[in-house]
Amino acid sequence: MPTLKANNIVRRFGGLVAVNDLSFEVEKGEILGIIGPNGAGKTTVINLMAGTLPVNKGSIEFNNVDVTNKEAHTRNRLGIARTFQIVRPLENFSAIENIMVGALFGKGDKLSEARSTAREICDFLNLENVNKSVDELTVLELKKVELGRALASEPDVLFLDEIMAGLTSEETWELMDIVKELQERNVAICVVEHIMKVVKELTNRVIVLNKGEIIAQGPYSKVSENKEVIAAYLGEE
Ligand SMILES: Nc1ncnc2c1ncn2[C@@H]1O[C@H](COP(=O)(O)OP(=O)(O)OP(=O)(O)O)[C@@H](O)[C@H]1O
Ligand SMILES: [Mg+2]
Repeated sequence: MPTLKANNIVRRFGGLVAVNDLSFEVEKGEILGIIGPNGAGKTTVINLMAGTLPVNKGSIEFNNVDVTNKEAHTRNRLGIARTFQIVRPLENFSAIENIMVGALFGKGDKLSEARSTAREICDFLNLENVNKSVDELTVLELKKVELGRALASEPDVLFLDEIMAGLTSEETWELMDIVKELQERNVAICVVEHIMKVVKELTNRVIVLNKGEIIAQGPYSKVSENKEVIAAYLGEE
C-alpha cells in the first residue's frame, strides 16, 4: 500500500505548466529519487505534495485519505514533512530552537516536550553546537537544522530538496548515512538531487522529470542509460 500518492496532478504558473498530469507514489521504507534538469518541476512537486502550493488539478492521497485540499500545516501534522531548497532558519533563534519549532507546530508538542524532542534529534543528527545562533553555523550544520526541523514532526513521508548541495564529499556521506538510517526506521523518503553519486548510492528507484512530466522511471542504473534522459539531463559521459 503506497503511503503517499499523487494522481494526475497539475500545476500552472500563468501560461507555464510546471507539473503536467503527474502520477507517482512512495512507500514506507523506500527512497525515491526525483531528478531532472533545472526548472523541470521538482521543487514544485514537493510544494504540491506538502501543501505549500495547491494543485490546479488531480488529487493527493496519504494513507488512503484524500489530502488534496488540506493545508500544509495540517499535512505536516498528519505526517508529511519537507526541507526547503533555500534554507531559511529563524535567524534570532539557536539551532535547537529552530528544531523545536518543528516539534511545536509539526507535532503539537508542548514547550518542554519540544525541547526533549529536539535534543533527541540533535543527538541523532550528531549536531553538536545546538545553542549556537543559526548565523554562526556551518553549511552542514544549517542543513542538519533544516532536516531536524522537518524530522521534529515525526514524519512518515519526508521530502528532501537538494540537502546535499554545497557540502564536501565527506559531509555528503555523513548526511547520506543519516538518510539511510531514516529509511531503516521505515520513513518514506523522496530525494530531489542533482548529485548523481548520491542518487546512485541512495535511491531504490527514481523518476526523471522534464518540463513537468515523467520521461523515465525505474532503478537509477537503468534510467541513467535511457537515451531521452541522457539527452534531456545527464548528457553523454
Ligand atoms: N512560484 C512560482 N511562480 C512562477 N513560476 C514558478 C514558481 N515556482 C516555480 N516556477 C516555475 O516552474 C518551473 C519549475 O520550477 P521548479 O522550481 O519546480 O524547478 P526545479 O526542478 O526544482 O528546478 P531546480 O533544479 O533549478 O531547483 C520553472 O520554470 C520555474 O520558473
Ligand atoms: Mg528545485
